Amino acid sequence: MRVLVTGGAGFIGGALVHALLGGGGEVMVVDDLSTGSIDNLHPAAGFRTIDVTGPGLANVVIGYGPEVIVHFAAQVSAAASIVDPDVDWRVNVEGTRAVAEAAVAAGARRVLFASSAAVYGEPQELPLTEESSTEPAVPYGRSKLAAEGVLAEVLRPAGVDFACLRFANVYGPRQRADGEGGVVAEFGSRMARGITPTIFGSGTQTRDFIFVADIVSACAAAAAFEGTLAQPGANGPAYNVSTGLATSVNALAEGLRVAMRYPGEIARGEAREGDVAASVLSPRKAADTFGWKAAVDLQAGLGATAAWFSQQS
Ligand SMILES: NC(=O)c1ccc[n+]([C@@H]2O[C@H](COP(=O)([O-])OP(=O)(O)OC[C@H]3O[C@@H](n4cnc5c(N)ncnc54)[C@H](O)[C@@H]3O)[C@@H](O)[C@H]2O)c1
Repeated sequence: MRVLVTGGAGFIGGALVHALLGGGGEVMVVDDLSTGSIDNLHPAAGFRTIDVTGPGLANVVIGYGPEVIVHFAAQVSAAASIVDPDVDWRVNVEGTRAVAEAAVAAGARRVLFASSAAVYGEPQELPLTEESSTEPAVPYGRSKLAAEGVLAEVLRPAGVDFACLRFANVYGPRQRADGEGGVVAEFGSRMARGITPTIFGSGTQTRDFIFVADIVSACAAAAAFEGTLAQPGANGPAYNVSTGLATSVNALAEGLRVAMRYPGEIARGEAREGDVAASVLSPRKAADTFGWKAAVDLQAGLGATAAWFSQQS
């Protein structure tokens, strides 16, 4: 399969590119290296340093002629989106429009978009399903939701299949401490350096933590699926990519402490504004449609992540 990955020098994108090439695929990466790194890039991948909102994108996509485009390039920080919502909107919405238009012009068969649990906002019901109400609490969630709409607007009339993969809280080796879902990275990098991590609020808030290899296998399964992912209806192309398991931040910190063999304290800080109290996403639709299920349990994933952090320090 010939795949173009935007944001392929990032944490998740880099892992996907390694897996696609390992499986015999051909890959082109488009990334502006704003938060990604050349170190994450597989040497066998084609690479162009391009901003998806800039003028060079369409020619590169048309020239490469991918069968599938996986669109990861984004402004990924919820906190940064509050500080500068205009930049967040430009990269996440206008960037997605540019990628969708390039996909149509290049005759791509399918676009997979990295959406987020942030589109749901404060959950009104648990577990969240793709039918749950979407009331994002931060500009990042609003831009991801708007980008889902842009994909429908541009790709449906052109007959290009697509899916909006709503990732839960992703963690794993190579994750930067300052991105979305960065609690594992933040705690891991601190524990590795012997710096006390801080749990904000009571720590009883829950999240659906998913290991990066499971995100990679979901993207690979969605890319290879032979049917149609963009089913009719507003939520038709949306798929939660999650474990379906809620883990409290306290339990996560304890699991990471064990994995990292961290002997120090864990501090407590004030709850952060906008932090949702509980979040868990049902992965059932992805299982029923393209036969994917998360396979890595939390302690195994934390073990692999801890080993990587230990090598860095
Ligand atoms: N990490 C999570 O928990 C999580 C959860 C939900 C959704 N997501 C989404 O998954 C995707 C990948 O996230 P990640 O955690 O790997 O973050 P990341 O920052 O490691 O990866 C994003 C990549 O996109 C590149 N990029 C940013 N703006 C760009 C632009 N304008 N043009 C070209 N490249 C650009 C960056 O350099 C980086 O390599 C993002 O779309 C993110 O919103 C991540």
